[in-house]
Amino acid sequence: MQISTSLMQPKHVISGRGTRDQLIAALPTNARNCLVVHSRSARWAQEFCKSAELAGVRVRCQLANGEPDLDDVRQILAGFQGADIQAVIAIGGGAAIDLGKAISALLPQDHDPLKYLEVVGDGHKMEHDPLFFAAIPTTSGTGAEATKNAVITVPDHGVKVSLRDDRMIPDLVVLDPDLVDGLPAPITFMTGLDAITQLMEPYLSQRATSQTDEICLQGLRLALPALHQLTLGENRAARDAMSQAAYLSGVALANAGLGVVHGLAGIMGGQLGVAHGTICARLLPSAMRVNRLACLEQGCPVDKFDHIAALVQQSWPNATGELDRDLFGFVAGRGIAKLPQTMLDAPMIDTLVDGALQASSYKTNPVALSRDQIKQVLQGACQI
Ligand SMILES: [Fe+2]
Repeated sequence: MQISTSLMQPKHVISGRGTRDQLIAALPTNARNCLVVHSRSARWAQEFCKSAELAGVRVRCQLANGEPDLDDVRQILAGFQGADIQAVIAIGGGAAIDLGKAISALLPQDHDPLKYLEVVGDGHKMEHDPLFFAAIPTTSGTGAEATKNAVITVPDHGVKVSLRDDRMIPDLVVLDPDLVDGLPAPITFMTGLDAITQLMEPYLSQRATSQTDEICLQGLRLALPALHQLTLGENRAARDAMSQAAYLSGVALANAGLGVVHGLAGIMGGQLGVAHGTICARLLPSAMRVNRLACLEQGCPVDKFDHIAALVQQSWPNATGELDRDLFGFVAGRGIAKLPQTMLDAPMIDTLVDGALQASSYKTNPVALSRDQIKQVLQGACQI
């Protein structure tokens, strides 16, 4: 994969089938005491731990139980304080990678995690560099293996927020599609549509550059046909493409920012307890429609929306070229959970709009939306 070196991105990426076997050799020589954070479903994590011990690397394991919340993070930090950990290795989906990334960043710090969190905390800059961090994704979606933030739920505030620092970009990434083969269809599409959202929102972002545009288009050209192929059944080439596309989506969002879908996702995840991928998949079609209309109303160009629509039409056999309708059609048949209709009731809908307006992800939406327009995004998402 060729990506410009002026972009913020992981220092060392190993990709291809079977490359997981190179992980131990790629760890820094001083990493003799490692913490492995893994998802329950990441069966290869156990195998890795055995191989690491045989290679003389002492390994401690930590299960990631769903998307991490602040109490999980505090508890794990307390458990490993003083354990002389030199490296953290996350093996799993986005939740495991976010948890591992947060632990690697926070273990060396002096204060409670809340001090460093955005929005609900002080957003204080971390005093010390994070520990060495390696990410090995077992889903293709969140792009967390390429980003500088970790998403953490803060139940007291009913919101998901980020711990963010340029130094949190993983030091090492291993993209081995063998670890993603056979992922159940709803998770494949939920995570895949998250990746697609993370390629479309940075492409339309106010912070987009010609470099990030190239990354987004490269990712969309891989992901759109691959997701269609996966609707027909398991497909190794499509898994390979999605693995690359998800990584590119992480690079894109870390460098260009996101938009209203991810702005809403933080507050919706915290308030409704719905999985991130489900929220993105369900919001994306109406967000594209509302954003395009808002751009037209405000006299802003819509050529990028039309370019995305053309890419979708080239990639999906039944696509019409109408972007929102094509995305609606794709999402509707994929077994992805519906959003609760109760989110449209007052005062919840106003809470969600308030949360989106405060979210860092929303700040790079192509244009500012009115409260009514953000409500239209939510209402549209409940129609599919
Ligand atoms: Fe996302």
